[in-house]
Amino acid sequence: MKKNSTANFIKVLAFFLAVVLQGKAQTKSIILGRPTNQSVTASVLFDQPVEFYLEYGDHPNLFDHTTPTMNNVVNRPDEVDIQGLTSNTKYYYRLRHRPGTTGPFSFSPQYTFRTQRAPGSKFRFNVEADEHLYDKKGVRNMYKVTLANQAKDSADFMLSLGDIFGDDHTPLETTSADMDALHKDYLQYLTEVCHSMPFYVCLGNHEGETGYYLNQTPPNNIAVYGTNSRKYYYPNPFPNSFYTGNTTNEPYGIGLPENYYAWTWGDALFVVLDVYRDCSINDKPQNWDWTLGFTQYSWLKTTLQNSNAKFKFVFAHHTRGQGRGGIKTAKGCEWGGYSGANNTNYQFDTYRPGWGLPIHQLMKSTGVNIFFQGHDHLYAKETLDSLVYQEVPMPADSTYEIGMLANADAYTDVTLGGTGHLRVTVEENCVTVDFVRAYLPQDTVGGLHQNGEIAYSYTVGPCTQTAVTDKITAESSIALYPNPAENFVNLTVRKPSDQDQKFELVDLQGQIRKTQILPSGSTDCRFDVVHLPKGVYAVRWLDGNESVRVKMLVIK
Ligand SMILES: [Fe+2]
Repeated sequence: MKKNSTANFIKVLAFFLAVVLQGKAQTKSIILGRPTNQSVTASVLFDQPVEFYLEYGDHPNLFDHTTPTMNNVVNRPDEVDIQGLTSNTKYYYRLRHRPGTTGPFSFSPQYTFRTQRAPGSKFRFNVEADEHLYDKKGVRNMYKVTLANQAKDSADFMLSLGDIFGDDHTPLETTSADMDALHKDYLQYLTEVCHSMPFYVCLGNHEGETGYYLNQTPPNNIAVYGTNSRKYYYPNPFPNSFYTGNTTNEPYGIGLPENYYAWTWGDALFVVLDVYRDCSINDKPQNWDWTLGFTQYSWLKTTLQNSNAKFKFVFAHHTRGQGRGGIKTAKGCEWGGYSGANNTNYQFDTYRPGWGLPIHQLMKSTGVNIFFQGHDHLYAKETLDSLVYQEVPMPADSTYEIGMLANADAYTDVTLGGTGHLRVTVEENCVTVDFVRAYLPQDTVGGLHQNGEIAYSYTVGPCTQTAVTDKITAESSIALYPNPAENFVNLTVRKPSDQDQKFELVDLQGQIRKTQILPSGSTDCRFDVVHLPKGVYAVRWLDGNESVRVKMLVIK
């Protein structure tokens, strides 16, 4: 009798659990990565036991292909390769899954991805850097706003330039479980956009994947933990017929570290560097201690020299690791070849005998257009030898000024506060880089700013399009002089207008500090800036339907 009641109880409990599992929403994540001309990889994770597969096709809502059905292990990501695709094609897909092994398969919304673009194609990609959700610099609700803005861009993929996953602040106490949790933490955010925007990560200093840490009582160190966790959750590229990169296998379960890699997409070459893994001298390398290592340097040289791409983009967390600034640090040591406080003593051949050119000169000689970096937590744009050095802002800074306050002094040209991402549009003869600002709803109440506004935009190449609503341009129809200005600035237009024109002097917060009316038929007016604090300003006016701005500096 007792045996029967126990059996009945187990049956009831099993039925109850089945009902609960059926009724409870599955928590899942899908992160796309390593897209090629004929494949993409989806990393899929559920917090409950399921059967699942992907269905896909090249027309909306017509899923005429499926991947094999798989059974998961709870909270363990499975990498699903979708192969045999056609290049330069937009694909549509859904995730089908059911709890356990019975019942109907539910389906996700329709997601999309692209295979490699053909030369001549117009496409977009996004860049963010220094998410910092593991410390107080990063605010989760702010990050969600930036990601939601990115979701509107129809970008083919996104790159993070590091300081995203790891936390090297307590290198001796951080455990493997800690690193696993830190990496897994981002799935909940990235899955909101990376189901349709493949994700690439470039390593930052706080990932802790440095040569120094790799050498500390391996495999029990944060570098081994971090590399394995990153590879476990995120499908970064490894060398194959589509990608090149690091071919050196590492021990302790790491295999290929997937830390540097390159690929071609449309008319552009993308090169992602790791400036940390070969730095093994100590935990705080200095000057010439910083190095890509000869193997990575040689790969970079070959990659850049062998590419015929019309545009070339190089990404790293920062030139030489842990300095501050763009073109200032670019002149020194392995990056620029010079030593000394003012970078006046060229010593590259002494410190790197037989290598050839320093990294900057190598990029310049091979036609690199833009070098993207993070680390300094602000928007900054400089140019050195026609090569743009682009510092990428934080996506999760709810103060909007962490980097401006801390690091703007390290830059010599455009610096802007604000939070958000960079949206890069590549066209046949033109690249447009937009800084898309993100704002929390409570910070737009006054109407001064709008979430999604373009804070700064510039182009590389002979662009013809001008359809940007709020554009700062250096190539405009007006001239400002002197610039920088101390007491006043003269404004001259090339052609007089038959109507009065209004010019506004605005500060970095978008506040109008001065207004001047240029009467019809006139070509010159003057702004008095003697009472303005020193800093970056812009002269703004309406040119047709376009709000145009030209940057100016006030000095004291
Ligand atoms: Fe950072």
